[in-house]
Amino acid sequence: MKAVILAGGEATRLRPLTCNTPKMMVPVLNRPFLEHLVRYLKGHRIVDVVLAVGKLSGQLHDYLGDGSRLGVSIACSEEPFPMGTAGAVKNAESLLDDSFLVFNGDIFTDIDLTAMIRAHRQNRAMATLALTPVEDPTIYGVVETDDRGRVTRFSEKPRREEVTTNVINAGIYILEPAVLSYIKPDAFSMFERDVFPQLLEKGHAIHGYQSSEYWIDIGTPDKYLRLQHDLLRRSVCDGGTVIATESSLHPSARIEGPVMIGRACSLEANCTIKGPAVLGAGCRVEEEAVVEGAMIWQDCTIGRGARLRNCLVASSCSVGEESEVLDGCILGDEVLIGRRNKLSNGIRIWPGRSIQPDTISF
Ligand code: GDD
Ligand code: MG
Repeated sequence: MKAVILAGGEATRLRPLTCNTPKMMVPVLNRPFLEHLVRYLKGHRIVDVVLAVGKLSGQLHDYLGDGSRLGVSIACSEEPFPMGTAGAVKNAESLLDDSFLVFNGDIFTDIDLTAMIRAHRQNRAMATLALTPVEDPTIYGVVETDDRGRVTRFSEKPRREEVTTNVINAGIYILEPAVLSYIKPDAFSMFERDVFPQLLEKGHAIHGYQSSEYWIDIGTPDKYLRLQHDLLRRSVCDGGTVIATESSLHPSARIEGPVMIGRACSLEANCTIKGPAVLGAGCRVEEEAVVEGAMIWQDCTIGRGARLRNCLVASSCSVGEESEVLDGCILGDEVLIGRRNKLSNGIRIWPGRSIQPDTISF
């Protein structure tokens, strides 16, 4: 079965991380998110992937090639303008023949696709939607089903008073090619607001495949951070630490796992890395600095005595001596924070900006 990955959204909610980096290339445990997704698909023997993108970025193109490095075949379908989730799939119609899978490009999950495909075939459904329970359904597409698992109602981003269930659209669909005839060509349209409600109205069988396996949409910074915390907690062996080659650790550096440290990092005297935390390749943590619960991309310097906690730091940033970057703060690429600043309360600093020493205490 072929899979179309929807990767054309603007990823505005992840800015400034996504100012220079497409959402698919944002690192998760030091590998592009796309790589995790492709491995997951491969695990379910899906090796033919169509990437539906607005415009293919150079970064994504260079990384992907034809997909063979990742052991899959990847074709790209570019859109002349943002066509919406359904419009993007219609735009890729010439690359699709049989039943196919559609995958929102910001979902990390362990949902059993093999079982979902099996259920789709057994039910002879026109469409099968993966469903998952969440705490706050108002920020997703809420899906009601009957006692046989058939979808009866679809309500995208409902108001709280309209919510009847906490079961939502997990952003994974198996569709029959006939669904494509319900999507207008060369126009914007969405499965969630246009196509699924229309299929229901016409009486077509849409089935839900409910799962309570791990599922997260990384479209917001808190969830992007949470995914990495969750993965570290479960994948790094027994609360341990993964340290890539060429890294140097001072004997007095303290590491409390789970921590992942990329290639060629340097951890200086008496610094502390407290997991779950990730350092990308080429980072330097100077004396007495403390990094706790943070995700740091490549080539960053954390100055002497600085403190980072539960924040996101993109590539080539420098945090000056004794500065603090705390809960929910995000630094874009190449941000320079001068000495003795204190950033908290989710402040976001855009790429390339510099903060002079002793200027922010918030
Ligand atoms: N190619 C292309 N073109 N892709 C797009 C476009 C477009 O015009 N618009 C959005 N996408 C991609 C995004 O990149 C993302 O991977 C996916 O489609 C979903 O878009 P989001 O903007 O992340 O939507 P959402 O998270 O608010 O809601 C969607 O996902 C929820 C699950 O996470 C909906 O499908 C909800 O119903 C669902 O519950
Ligand atoms: Mg999303």
